[in-house]
Amino acid sequence: MNTVKVDFEDGIAWVSMNRPEKKNAISVEMAHQMVKLMDQLETDERCHVLVLTGAGESFSAGMDLKDYFRATDKASAVERARVYRLNGAWQWRGLLHYPKPTIAMVNGWCFGGALTPLVACDLAIAADEATFGLSEINWGIIPAGVVCKAISTVMSARDAMYCVMTGETFDGRRAAEMRLVNESVPRAKLRARTQELAKTLMSKNPTVLRAAKTAFRYSARMSWEEAADYLFAKSDQSIFQDPERGREEGMRQFLDEKSYKPGLGTYKRKKG
Ligand code: COA
Repeated sequence: MNTVKVDFEDGIAWVSMNRPEKKNAISVEMAHQMVKLMDQLETDERCHVLVLTGAGESFSAGMDLKDYFRATDKASAVERARVYRLNGAWQWRGLLHYPKPTIAMVNGWCFGGALTPLVACDLAIAADEATFGLSEINWGIIPAGVVCKAISTVMSARDAMYCVMTGETFDGRRAAEMRLVNESVPRAKLRARTQELAKTLMSKNPTVLRAAKTAFRYSARMSWEEAADYLFAKSDQSIFQDPERGREEGMRQFLDEKSYKPGLGTYKRKKG
């Protein structure tokens, strides 16, 4: 794989879009390789948290205009749909429901189609110095793929419409204010802060973490009645599937052993 790369360190898989000379613009080849890599990492014991970032000075300059637009313009409707489906397989379907926690680490340029995987990650941290933009309007298209939908799930309509309609750039701090990312830190601290957040996630019960993110994503789309019923069942499912019996252990350590406060931190796990 040459357009994506992965480095493992202390439970974190640092996954980079890797075309730095093209500002990590997302090509069809990159989409193929990312689908394959994410599939491999699902069962790779070295990956407890997946961090998505970009090689060099860019997160990603969005979809590769040559590859995803000019080249596919000549393709049949079936072929065009196929490459867009391929991209959806990692950028949103894959990431939204990834069984392990995901963090987007936005290190630099982040435009257009790159906002989809950014939003689809569970959490996101940007460098203050990163430059974002919904640049589509500047070159005569709408934020398609699924960019409009993606940003509508995290940004206010006012902020999203401003970005969609002006195409103006903004930095990491502004991205955090608009809730496109959780927080923004100076670039020099970006990796350390991401590592710290990943460690927090790794201290939690992974079965329950997986169920919790699925529960949040699906219940957000349901009525209150449906959500209450679904969450009741989902909660039972996660208890049933949890090999470390975290719920019982958590209650035992708090109520009987009095060794920790759930309001202030995680119960002591035997492993992990
Ligand atoms: N698609 C295809 N190629 C891209 C690209 C994209 N989205 N973004 C950058 N590149 C290519 C450039 O064409 C250039 O290729 P070349 O070396 O063969 O000339 C190379 O990457 C380096 O980019 P360059 O524009 O020279 O870098 P820069 O530092 O001057 O500017 C950007 C960086 C990100 C501001 C600029 O590349 C840009 O505006 N990219 C398009 C961003 C965009 O609108 N993305 C939305 C797509 S949905």
